Amino acid sequence: MRQSWRATVAGLAVGALTLTGAAAGATIGAVAAAAADDTIIDNDFESTYEPWTARGDADLALTTTEAASGSSSLAVTGRTASWQGAATDVVSTFVAGETYTLDAQVKVPAGTAATTVAATVQESRDGTDDAYTQVASVAVDADGWATLTGTYVMPDALTGAVLYLEAATTGSGDSAAEPDFLVDDLGVTGTAGGTGQTEAVLATDFEDGLGGWSARGDGVVADTTTPGHDSGTAALVTNRTEEWHGLAHDVTSLIEPGSTYQVSAWVKLGPDEDGTADIGLSVQRTAADGGDSFDNVATAAGATADDWVQITGTYQPGPFESATLYVEMPYQSADLRPIVVDDVLVTTSSAGIETDVPDLKDALDVPFGVAIDGRETTGPSSELVLKHFDQITPENDMKPEEIQPTEGTFTFDDADVLMQFAKDDGLRVYGHVLVWHSQTADWMFEDPTTGEPLTTSDEDRQLLRDRMKTHIDTFAEHFAQYGAYGEDNPIRAIDVVNEVISEGEDDGLRRSEWYRILGPEYIRLAFEYAHEAFGDGVALFINDYNTEQPAKRAAYLDLVGDLLDEGVPVDGVGHQLHVSLLQPINQIEASIEAVDALADAKGVDLVQAVTELDVAANTGGESWTSLPQERAVSQGYYYRDLFDMLRSHAQDLFSVTVWGPTDARSWRSEGFPLLFDGALQAKPAFWGSSTRRSSPCSPGPPPPRPATWPSTGTRRPTPRGTSCPTYPSARPARAGSSGGRPTTSRRSSTSRTRRPTGPPTPSTSSGGTPRSPWHGTAASRVPVRPWCRTAGAGSTSSPTSRTRAWWTARPWMPTSVSPTGPPGPRCRGTTSATARRTASASVSSP
Ligand code: XIL
Repeated sequence: MRQSWRATVAGLAVGALTLTGAAAGATIGAVAAAAADDTIIDNDFESTYEPWTARGDADLALTTTEAASGSSSLAVTGRTASWQGAATDVVSTFVAGETYTLDAQVKVPAGTAATTVAATVQESRDGTDDAYTQVASVAVDADGWATLTGTYVMPDALTGAVLYLEAATTGSGDSAAEPDFLVDDLGVTGTAGGTGQTEAVLATDFEDGLGGWSARGDGVVADTTTPGHDSGTAALVTNRTEEWHGLAHDVTSLIEPGSTYQVSAWVKLGPDEDGTADIGLSVQRTAADGGDSFDNVATAAGATADDWVQITGTYQPGPFESATLYVEMPYQSADLRPIVVDDVLVTTSSAGIETDVPDLKDALDVPFGVAIDGRETTGPSSELVLKHFDQITPENDMKPEEIQPTEGTFTFDDADVLMQFAKDDGLRVYGHVLVWHSQTADWMFEDPTTGEPLTTSDEDRQLLRDRMKTHIDTFAEHFAQYGAYGEDNPIRAIDVVNEVISEGEDDGLRRSEWYRILGPEYIRLAFEYAHEAFGDGVALFINDYNTEQPAKRAAYLDLVGDLLDEGVPVDGVGHQLHVSLLQPINQIEASIEAVDALADAKGVDLVQAVTELDVAANTGGESWTSLPQERAVSQGYYYRDLFDMLRSHAQDLFSVTVWGPTDARSWRSEGFPLLFDGALQAKPAFWGSSTRRSSPCSPGPPPPRPATWPSTGTRRPTPRGTSCPTYPSARPARAGSSGGRPTTSRRSSTSRTRRPTGPPTPSTSSGGTPRSPWHGTAASRVPVRPWCRTAGAGSTSSPTSRTRAWWTARPWMPTSVSPTGPPGPRCRGTTSATARRTASASVSSP
């Protein structure tokens, strides 16, 4: 690879990347805060047009026919559609949030009709359609050079970004044409490197042999006997007899699970081959138990024997014991032709987590959870989880289709990774989910011999009950290996049923397959089976979305009330809270208070959890490539007010969980709904969450006030005071009935008072900070029904009230806690779910 184009990446000439063989750890740009006018791309098109490549059918070539300066320019010809032209990948060279300026001279060749030339960035983001952001456009003709100039702000959390030059179609109908165009003196400037470093972990140009690569597959031959991509030699792979045969490099020690990599290679078909081919880059990950995963990183289409194509992609590896990067042809392509490979480059630009920001788990008065998968159990992502959260929910890995994809085949591998992570690091696990209409394999509701939907015959109904029980029992038995439930098992709660409400139905229940076959009894059965399987040590939750909306809330309350009346062992009520900035926080609070009031009215124990919180910022359905600053700030205030409200209900809450660690990992990524951006950096939402509204002295800088407060129906921020002493900045170490929240309690006058009745001063034995009883570490976990206990022998103090708040908890939590510890937040003595279970007739079960 000869890099003669004048370009710099992160302040260092890319020409320095003329590497031979693997260059693990070579730093491309160790620039912590590069100047905003770094040269990112600088082409005079005198000797090369790198880093530009053809887009679509276009051909790129240097031409001496015309030049804006020097003696040559770039000619873009052979175009068959307006979007075709010259392209270059900028996903790893541009930094999110930074501004880039493009400047180029453009024209059409003599004799060509006038048109418009534009520069655009194609932006890719996981799970959404690509977006196209125009950077600049200019009218051009054959008479003289025109200046194409414009600026571009790199959005957050992109998985791909390609800058390209295109030209508008000229004429119309039969005379429509895709004109050739010329480019010269092209420059892109902006901040390079950002807060992190771009580091090459693997760079191979095959100039001196295979450089650590080898043939993949029996009988496959790899050598460097063929001309290279803009260089002397490339790797040639022949004798392939399987699609996955190709060229491989062990990357076990080069890449790290959970980090993000930009991967690129140039490929083409072997000499003299006809037609085109798709050629891909993949990674084989092998787990400790020998199990393999195959991740396709990216595939380039349209490679020929003559034309190089570039494979580019972003890759975040999951866990592995060993890993191999390899070039192959797609599965079932039946393509066994020779492949040529050159200029492989794997870089990483992770900035790592911010270590100097407050730990969020200390900013909320209840356990703070996050939905994750295996990617967050290692690397910088796991550091983020461990710093800010003390509970995890498997985002997908405990769902029915994951645990039992086919009847009788239980697959716990992915969930085990999370359980081990939790066990090793003292995190609580909120299990999700046992019975759900979604993400449940079809077999659950089908006849095992005919594959037809189950009927409502007695036999079929019994089969479905048996399947439910087997699933729940096997689930509970498997995870019991991590400790006894209620003692040292990380699973502290589980969603037993999920999304069973449909407020439009007469009985308020979703018409799912569960409902069609079993009717409403399936809900009761699920709780009964879960209670039999997990015992009293795991809080059994019902969970749903839109519970903050009045109609849904009413149907939810009706169902929960009925379940409580019937003695069904429901311990907790979950509010998913997939909301937006338009969702009034007081509606959310109303639902929490309504559940609270229901429990009061029934005289039973019930806790609540925020189970899947995310707050979409695109309230108008906007499709952004980055979160506009004003909306980010509004979101910061929303999170602040929401968390303040949640703090005021800490005594009702089992936990609060955000549905994902970063916007890039969110299932609603288009709404940028979470606390951290794709680069693991804290957003205003983070600062809002960690800032107590009523405390102007809270740690951490608050988000800047938005220029205009959106009419979202959210609470308006309380003006910040000028002095701080009336309210403690950290946890209020209040005692008895005084101190604490001064005048702004949101609890209505009719609400029950939950006055702490414990010892006057909270224990500070754990890091000097009193924690919620649910905050227990592995060592201090309360063994039985931690969410609700009755006063008794194990207490070091004997509270007289049956209510409790977090700051009274620690004194009641000796290292060996009696099963009869202090009362829980919803405890009302003898009316615990357990008592109800034994007192009530069990749900009729055939
Ligand atoms: C979502 C996950 O976040 C996605 O990764 C998956 O593709 C679909 O499910 N309510 C729930 C969660 O209870 O399980 C859903 O999670 C989000 C809505």
